[in-house]
Amino acid sequence: MPSDVSVVILAAGKGTRMRSPLPKVLHPLCGRPLVAWVVDQALALDPARVVLVVGHGAEAVEAAVRPQVEGAGGVEFTAVRQEPQNGTGHALQVCIPALAGAGRVVVLYGDMPLMRPTSLTALLEAQSQVGVGGAALLTAWPDEARGFGRILRDGDEDFVGIVEQKDCSEEELAIGEVNLGVYAFPGAALLDALPRLSNDNAQGEYYLTDVLGMLVAAENPVATVELEDADEGLGINTIEQLSDARWALQMRIHEEHMANGVYIEDPSSTYIDHGVTIGTGTHVLPCTVIRSGVTIGEGCEVGPFTHLRVGTVLKNGAEVGNFTECKQSTVGEGSKAKHLSYLGDAQIGARTNIGAGTIFANYDGVHKHKTTVGDGAFVGSGTILVGPNNIPDGATTGAGAVVTRSADVGPNETWVGMPARRHQKKSAPEGAE
Ligand code: UD1
Ligand code: CA
Repeated sequence: MPSDVSVVILAAGKGTRMRSPLPKVLHPLCGRPLVAWVVDQALALDPARVVLVVGHGAEAVEAAVRPQVEGAGGVEFTAVRQEPQNGTGHALQVCIPALAGAGRVVVLYGDMPLMRPTSLTALLEAQSQVGVGGAALLTAWPDEARGFGRILRDGDEDFVGIVEQKDCSEEELAIGEVNLGVYAFPGAALLDALPRLSNDNAQGEYYLTDVLGMLVAAENPVATVELEDADEGLGINTIEQLSDARWALQMRIHEEHMANGVYIEDPSSTYIDHGVTIGTGTHVLPCTVIRSGVTIGEGCEVGPFTHLRVGTVLKNGAEVGNFTECKQSTVGEGSKAKHLSYLGDAQIGARTNIGAGTIFANYDGVHKHKTTVGDGAFVGSGTILVGPNNIPDGATTGAGAVVTRSADVGPNETWVGMPARRHQKKSAPEGAE
């Protein structure tokens, strides 16, 4: 059965308090833009369509989100421009054409990365429980209610509406239960209410929150779902909050890897982005940074103090440690680069040792060049391999060798010096003179 859920992601806001020229929802968070985490939340609901409301940095925000939604397959994607931004209700008003015929509409904020899919399924569940025409919203009791809309309830504790902080009376300000701004609406009732919103309030904005009050007034039931963990409702408005969210997401990423049998010795000093694959039995030592797009096999050792960047592949049993950086490089099965090295655009075979202080000099100032090292090679300490180059199977470089570009190193040969020259020919085949 096709899904009856449409998700609207509000992402038009400027994010003035970030003090950054980058649109707020594009700030990087564990290796992907902030909004990508929200798109994951949306996709977890298996929606028929995703509508993205954009304003500030519209093109860049749309370009970041579209491939993620379309990549999910079978989900219709529409980006709608909201110009100027006259409030959350206005943001939904501009979506009216895109939401034509919508069954249920879930509203998410593009700056709320910590919301768990389980909380959103609970929201949808609550909405279906209250029946046709009813809605549901997430609430929480944060330590600090300031800034949030407050939840109004009647004598029976039933939800009656939301009042924005700036419109609150003294008594209303004291209410500790707040609106997180995440809702599940019946599509028809939402589309009917939106054109009737007014901006007669303290901010002169069209408030989406007023739709809930309108539903209650029309005797449509509205359910509230209280978040157990109020932190899930963290909205990112400042760099400090971005950093708080990074920490929370980092712990979730670590938990996933550890559940897969990866031993992260010190989670607090280890940074692993979203989009990293790590095999069972791998040991990650402290002070290590692993960026998005890295693949690590089984039984590897990484760190301490190691930086693995995009395009790094460690085959099973590889070891990369102590102040070594890798970028666009493969380290073959059982090979080691354990100390003070830079591996850039390097393809290293199996059982090869990369000595302390080896540098793959991949950049000539204009272009990047690849260097390959074969199986069972031995690269001596302090070797510089100027790319492009090829160090074949079984070859050795002496300590401090500078192997200039495209040197003609043969299999099993030993090269030494600066510039490196052949020191020992490959051993002659059996029986030859
Ligand atoms: C809104 C709720 C408030 C709730 C709070 C939770 C309303 C009127 N109030 O507050 O009850 O406690 O969220 O965080 O809805 N946005 C647009 N276009 C706009 C305005 C906002 O796309 O015209 C987007 C922002 O980019 C942001 C989200 O909507 O992602 C929330 O906007 P924000 O201004 O932070 O929320 P408030 O309206 O203050
Ligand atoms: Ca606002």
